[in-house]
Amino acid sequence: MDRILIRGGNRLNGAIPISGAKNSALTLMPCALLTDEPLTLRNLPRLADVDSFGHLLNQLGCSTMIEGARPEDFGRVMTMRAGKVTATIAPYDIVRKMRASILVLGPLLAREGEAKVSLPGGCAIGNRPIDLHLKVLEAFGAEMDTSNGYVTARAKDGRLPGGTMVFPVVSVGATENALMAASRAKGTCVIENAAREPEIVDLCNLLVAMGVSIDGIGTETLTIEGRDRLNGATYRVMPDRIEAGSYACAVGITGGEIDLVGAKAADMQATLIALKEAGLSITEHRDGIKVAADGTPKALTLSTAPFPGFATDMQAQFMAMLAKADGASVLTETIFENRYMHVPELARMGADIQVKGRTAVVRGVDRLAGAPVMATDLRASMSLIIAGLAAEGETQVNRVYHLDRGYERLEEKLSAVGADIERVSDG
Ligand code: EPZ
Repeated sequence: MDRILIRGGNRLNGAIPISGAKNSALTLMPCALLTDEPLTLRNLPRLADVDSFGHLLNQLGCSTMIEGARPEDFGRVMTMRAGKVTATIAPYDIVRKMRASILVLGPLLAREGEAKVSLPGGCAIGNRPIDLHLKVLEAFGAEMDTSNGYVTARAKDGRLPGGTMVFPVVSVGATENALMAASRAKGTCVIENAAREPEIVDLCNLLVAMGVSIDGIGTETLTIEGRDRLNGATYRVMPDRIEAGSYACAVGITGGEIDLVGAKAADMQATLIALKEAGLSITEHRDGIKVAADGTPKALTLSTAPFPGFATDMQAQFMAMLAKADGASVLTETIFENRYMHVPELARMGADIQVKGRTAVVRGVDRLAGAPVMATDLRASMSLIIAGLAAEGETQVNRVYHLDRGYERLEEKLSAVGADIERVSDG
């Protein structure tokens, strides 16, 4: 198992290239199942989850071919082709390792008229049910059955009749499955209270490029007119707004100035507003976002919310930055019930954090001390890296496979801007 060693205290200065967005790639890739023509995705990040999704697609009969990267992209080019879908099941051993595998449910149902997917089970940050995924497919006319840990969805004569779903709570994944299922429905599908995350807009833009007509892109009401056949497309994955925000928090705690090359400010306004309130200087420019800081952020009060609110995927990283803030911050996590796994690990580095239910009070301290810490989930791991960058002495982050799911070439990107960081492999 790999570990990452950081000797903290260096300011960060220079440019960090922002990769393609993990949470967009994982919903664009299953779109390859919607057509028998090639789907080419550019700017695809080199991440464990992207590789796992490629293996899942292979098991369903979809070929995946990696080409080189184009100069204007940071990620790879992958061409996928599902000439014939050879299986319509996503088995437990795959789904339990990568929850996003549930996103083959909608496309398989749309393409083959049936799909069988293992219930994903919970994960470190919460029990992560998929009831809303099932409800929306039922609303679009699918026959659903859940038994023996699997959910089976069927469209009576092979194509969904269509219908309307009003989501009781915003769900990114359920909105994504809904859009992909609706893309080949016979009738009109309407989604009310749809997620509005930029990754949803990316998915809508790809589906439109494949021939689907979608009204209301970027809003909470989406109206989809599906087609019985979709064409292939070539599409560039959007830049990762969470990766960009994570590195901004890093410079927020170390001090310095970094240019987040390729970051798209319009996708991350709530993060940028919070960073400005914390005293960082933010300069949006044609090719990205420049972030400068003195290393002692101001305290904040933040509450996570669906887009355009403050992203739950940024909570752990802000908490690490605010561990050295001037004053006490209050963070409230409204999306997941157990997204404070990073707190005990940050406390081992000297952070002063009190959690009560969904709320964490972070009292800024003058110094953090390096320590061996354990990564528990993707964003928690990044919060430990951020704290380690400013801690005195050496921090050893264990179980970095969590990090590799969502941060491409992390130690390379941070070393290039002055961090004293290295990966040690036990293998
Ligand atoms: C996506 O997860 C992201 N993952 C998550 O990013 C992100 O935190 C989350 O959206 C919220 O923005 C990917 O895109 C691969 P949800 P998803 O459905 O779709 C409840 C990261 O760190 N819910 O919007 O699973 C759910 O329990 C990851 O990159 C139901 O109750 O999130 C949660 O409380 C972590 N029933 C809330 O809704 C359902 O059927 C939001 O979940 C589905 C969800």
